[in-house]
Amino acid sequence: MPLLETRDLTRLFGGLAAVNGVDLTVDKGEIVGLIGPNGAGKTTCFNLLSGFLRPTRGSIVFDGEDITGLRPHQIAARGLVRTFQLTTLFQEMTALENVLLGLHLHSGKGPRQVLFSRRDFPADEIARGRDVLDFTGLAAHAHQLSRNLPHGHQRVLGIAMALAAEPRLLLLDEPVTGMNLDESGRVMDLVKTIRSRGTTILLVEHNMKAVMGTCERIVVLNFGRKLAEGTPSHVSTSPEVIQAYLGTGVAHA
Ligand SMILES: Nc1ncnc2c1ncn2[C@@H]1O[C@H](COP(=O)(O)OP(=O)(O)OP(=O)(O)O)[C@@H](O)[C@H]1O
Ligand SMILES: [Mg+2]
Repeated sequence: MPLLETRDLTRLFGGLAAVNGVDLTVDKGEIVGLIGPNGAGKTTCFNLLSGFLRPTRGSIVFDGEDITGLRPHQIAARGLVRTFQLTTLFQEMTALENVLLGLHLHSGKGPRQVLFSRRDFPADEIARGRDVLDFTGLAAHAHQLSRNLPHGHQRVLGIAMALAAEPRLLLLDEPVTGMNLDESGRVMDLVKTIRSRGTTILLVEHNMKAVMGTCERIVVLNFGRKLAEGTPSHVSTSPEVIQAYLGTGVAHA
């Protein structure tokens, strides 16, 4: 049984089918890439999977349970957690506080409730938050305000916030965007380590080097539809995929 399975997943915005009839499966332990040109529907897919948007049509089954239409915190509580394409940190709070808030936001408390109670995190949660910072290489920055962190660290902190919720399936939306070669290499190593510790990964990324070097299987979206699917070498030599990327410059990024 796949860990994640969508059937006919569809989301319309007015007349536009942002995601159109997508059947997607992710098996436990995989790192699957979800790629496609700008506007192909990748982030909309993540919004549907994580409950931030309701599908117009179709179903989402996670670990054997139909989660279609559940709220984001209900989905996160089941172990399906996402990061955001644009980093959404609490800028005036420290890295550690952000991780602790991430833990609570995914647990279904409202942001206000979490912010209100932020001075009394129990010791076990603080220990867990520190573990996550250690693991993601941010331990030295635990008490720095997130707005003072360099861009690369802010992106990693976004991943750390998701990890605090102990996901079984982690959806990463462009984790290495705006990073240099060194930084992106380190983040992709982190992704592999996250997987080796038992978390399955679905990765949206335009950086082809990162995608091809990390994913075992790749699904290509174009205009909301699944265009191709297979191993990195299969999709990177597929004429349809090359055609879809022509002129975007992305294939060579
Ligand atoms: N809330 C919305 N309302 C209306 N249209 C939307 C909305 N969200 C996305 N779209 C449209 O749906 C299509 C798919 O957008 P989406 O953000 O999913 O693409 P993407 O593959 O993530 O692109 P990128 O690589 O640029 O991040 C686009 O045409 C976009 O303009
Ligand atoms: Mg996107």
